[in-house]
Amino acid sequence: MTTKNLTTPKPAQQNIVWHQALVTPAQRQHLKGHKPAVLWFTGLSGSGKSTIANAVEVKLNQLSVHSYLLDGDNVRHGLNGDLGFSDTDRVENIRRIGEVAKLFVDSGSVVLTAFISPFIADRQQVRSLLPDGDFIEVFVDTPFAVCESRDPKGLYKKARNGEIAHFTGLTSDYEAPLSPEIHLKTAQYTIEQSAQHVVQYLRDNGYV
Ligand code: ADX
Repeated sequence: MTTKNLTTPKPAQQNIVWHQALVTPAQRQHLKGHKPAVLWFTGLSGSGKSTIANAVEVKLNQLSVHSYLLDGDNVRHGLNGDLGFSDTDRVENIRRIGEVAKLFVDSGSVVLTAFISPFIADRQQVRSLLPDGDFIEVFVDTPFAVCESRDPKGLYKKARNGEIAHFTGLTSDYEAPLSPEIHLKTAQYTIEQSAQHVVQYLRDNGYV
């Protein structure tokens, strides 16, 4: 594992000096008994990101993998409660989550993130924060029409009625991943199969 960029933050304030921890990422990893990684789920609202990520986390827990799930709707209640859905706010949303995910990776955990994260550049930026191989992009590829027909939170209906501005897929862009590590065509699989596919990727590539 490389340690690319983990020690070279650029603070906005002056007189801030990076304090090097005595316990290394390798030592934390050794205690945990598996490799750390970010499973970065991206897809439209209602595509199944949170549902599949939860199912994956259950399986990881059964395998004694130390994990944590960061979910868009939940994080927007706390850390990112000040952010809306303009392009600028979405960029900041993903920037903060990327930094949090990086801390989890540094702690040795497998972190699962479930955010629409609609822009390629932002996802690429998070990837570039992390050591090579630690960022695993999971494209939850559910067609817009399917997400709209599910409409689990009634948001598509509201957006169609003009009650929600900047709604992803309607009035705000979604840029699909070009070469995700994992591509889940959810219309063809059950949640269980999709979750199994993700865990198998982790096994096949020596993460767990
Ligand atoms: S992101 O685009 O910034 O990555 P994030 O994943 O945090 O979005 O939040 C998306 C969730 O917020 C959706 O699943 C939905 O429940 C809710 N939401 C509220 N308003 C919008 C909107 N305008 N566009 C998309 N999702 C919205």
